Amino acid sequence: MERRVEFIDTQACGSPPVAKLESMVTRRSIMMAGLVGATALPVRASSARAGDLSGQASRQPDVPGFVKELMAEMTLEEKLGQLTMVSANLAQTGPYSTPMTLDSVKLGRVGSLFNLWGAERIREVQRLAVEETRLRIPLFFGFDVLHGHRTIFPIPVAEACAFDPGVWKATARAAAEEAAGEGIDLTFAPMLDVTRDPRWGRTAEGPGEDAWLASRFARAKVHGFQSTDLANPDAVAATAKHLGAYGAVNAGREYAPVDISERQLREVYLPSFGAAAEAGVAAVMPAFTDLAGTPMSANAAILRDLVRGRWGFSGVIISDYRAIAELVSHGVAADLADAAALALAAGIDIDMMGEAYAKGLPVALGRGEVTLASIDLAVERVLALKAKLGLFDNPYRRCGKTDAAETAAGVGARRQLAREAARRSIVLLKNSDHVLPLRDGVGSIAVIGPLADAKGHMLGPWSAAGVSEEAVPILDGLREALPATTISLAQGCGIDEIEPASKARALEVAARGDIIVLCLGESKTMSGEAASRARPGLPTAQRELARAVVELGKPVVVLLFSGRPLILPNWLAERASAVLAMWFPGSEAGHAAGDVLSGRFNPTGRLSISWPFDVGQIPIFFGQRPSGRPASPTEHYTSKYIDLPVEPRFSFGHGLSYAEFALSRLRVDRSELRAGQSISVEADVANLGPVAGEETVLFFIHDPVATVARPLLELRGVQKIALAPGERGTLRFSLAAEDIRFLGPDLEPKWEAGAIELYVGRSAA
Ligand code: BGC
Repeated sequence: MERRVEFIDTQACGSPPVAKLESMVTRRSIMMAGLVGATALPVRASSARAGDLSGQASRQPDVPGFVKELMAEMTLEEKLGQLTMVSANLAQTGPYSTPMTLDSVKLGRVGSLFNLWGAERIREVQRLAVEETRLRIPLFFGFDVLHGHRTIFPIPVAEACAFDPGVWKATARAAAEEAAGEGIDLTFAPMLDVTRDPRWGRTAEGPGEDAWLASRFARAKVHGFQSTDLANPDAVAATAKHLGAYGAVNAGREYAPVDISERQLREVYLPSFGAAAEAGVAAVMPAFTDLAGTPMSANAAILRDLVRGRWGFSGVIISDYRAIAELVSHGVAADLADAAALALAAGIDIDMMGEAYAKGLPVALGRGEVTLASIDLAVERVLALKAKLGLFDNPYRRCGKTDAAETAAGVGARRQLAREAARRSIVLLKNSDHVLPLRDGVGSIAVIGPLADAKGHMLGPWSAAGVSEEAVPILDGLREALPATTISLAQGCGIDEIEPASKARALEVAARGDIIVLCLGESKTMSGEAASRARPGLPTAQRELARAVVELGKPVVVLLFSGRPLILPNWLAERASAVLAMWFPGSEAGHAAGDVLSGRFNPTGRLSISWPFDVGQIPIFFGQRPSGRPASPTEHYTSKYIDLPVEPRFSFGHGLSYAEFALSRLRVDRSELRAGQSISVEADVANLGPVAGEETVLFFIHDPVATVARPLLELRGVQKIALAPGERGTLRFSLAAEDIRFLGPDLEPKWEAGAIELYVGRSAA
């Protein structure tokens, strides 16, 4: 906030205001007028925004008449079967399912399977359900299609860096088409956990640090996966996971408890789930974690009262893997029956892998801890989902296509989409002396590092049915993009193994190159589930290699592969000529890298999460509330570190382009805002550089005086504009009165009269 620009008060808004710009940040203020009091305002809104607890009563899904009839026929065991989901363990145990699972299917003890894909295999198991069970109820098949099924797109935290709902929706649609073509009815995605802690391995799977962006991501993904009708053969039911605040696990440690304020929960961690519910998501999965003493799998206040009750969610709630049984280890259930009773009361319909419902609910019934009516309610929801998926009409609905029948055009289009999504996810963090883009035929390039020619790692930690062999490694992509350039490869070390001979050879190769492209970072298993890192930086072997390479004194371009922001050594960040956050780019990694490094694609990616200087700054995020003693370099008693900056190394929204943009003339069409109204906010953008490019502009608000202090910046809009060299254009944002509501002291949404500051800029910095 040091870079203040001329403050234009509300009186000036009638005449063309001139905001004097300093840096890329511009600021305006408007008045929020006459809004105190309940008369004109929907104080209790019915939407699911911002952890809003008001609104609709609990809704049951539309249950078709035949489902009611079917239920009248069902035994308790068959009902519990519908509530039981098991893994077919395709990856571990061979062609499809274990004999035990097949028997369970035939006996009607399983209602859904996961980890099984392939139209023929699914057809075969489905046949058992619809031909050999007593009531012939179809199964549904779930799978973790997090960022692609066969064609792997960038990991979600990377894709979020595209700041582009069109891309997010398109990749979900393509993934759904592929997965549905292989028999999948439901995916355990999107993962919507906001996180501000790069130690947490699952940072890779989520949309980054901001609730507003995560909510946009949620909507796009739900619409992409589910299309217009769940019964469509290429629609896949989506699951919003893992509710809620999983990203706030204590010290970034996987499966650890969460203890945050109710306000933070509602303002930061719940909105993305509210947005998914609003978008009609079919399923919700609670997190493994304990939230202030109540594990999410037993959290009736959130699952039953908020999600089902006030948000009006009528889909199914699916537990995480064995999470109901784990209520015993959490210390809130005495045994499996107790755990099952707690989870059912909280609103969980399906028990994934836990056997808690199958074995525990009969005992709980006997003890009077649950009623048959509550079991029936859960069964109704599961059967209603199967009906919506069209499985009662045609249980083989998603087994129509075989891989062989897949057209080359379809595969090609998806690969093209993967390339586009990957290059839009790559973030150019640093580019000194315009070392990038690389010019073809000018000098030679040494490509060094354990990730230079590593197909499998490019796919990231949760790559579903993706095949490593089908991924394009960086080396191949660079050779294709720069055909007239001599490109040599040397690995130099393993991911974390020092290999002296390999290092010596790498240094020789590097010494012969005019430019060095250094491919460093994590292996695909170093992030994702159960991959928390107390030191989320480069492994020692790679640091040693990088240091020796940098010492050669040549221009070094560092490509960083990771599922999280990495803590970089200062010497590397300072001495490298260029640094790019590559994340895990997916099947088209090499092509996307070639496009960006050669300048065939001018980078547009922006960080969806702050990159700290060091672990001690974590949690670090732009939406901080003000301090009474804001950091000052000259004042001692201020909110800062004496050994590190307060700011991150790279801020949320940071990302460079080969073009050079300037923002000017921030203006608004009115100076007062009342309920139901919106304000149009405009700013001009000019491309001052020598090449065409696309600029992304972020629009933030700040409420400087409120009964509850508001964050220094709140994201409220993102716009993009493509400009030729020398071209100018105008970006338009809309700010609705809704967008400046906040949760008051009683945690109810409210407006307060007063000024609101508006900012547009390239990043939160
Ligand atoms: C993960 C979920 C996933 C499930 C099924 C769990 O371990 O936490 O995200 O959907 O497994 O694979």
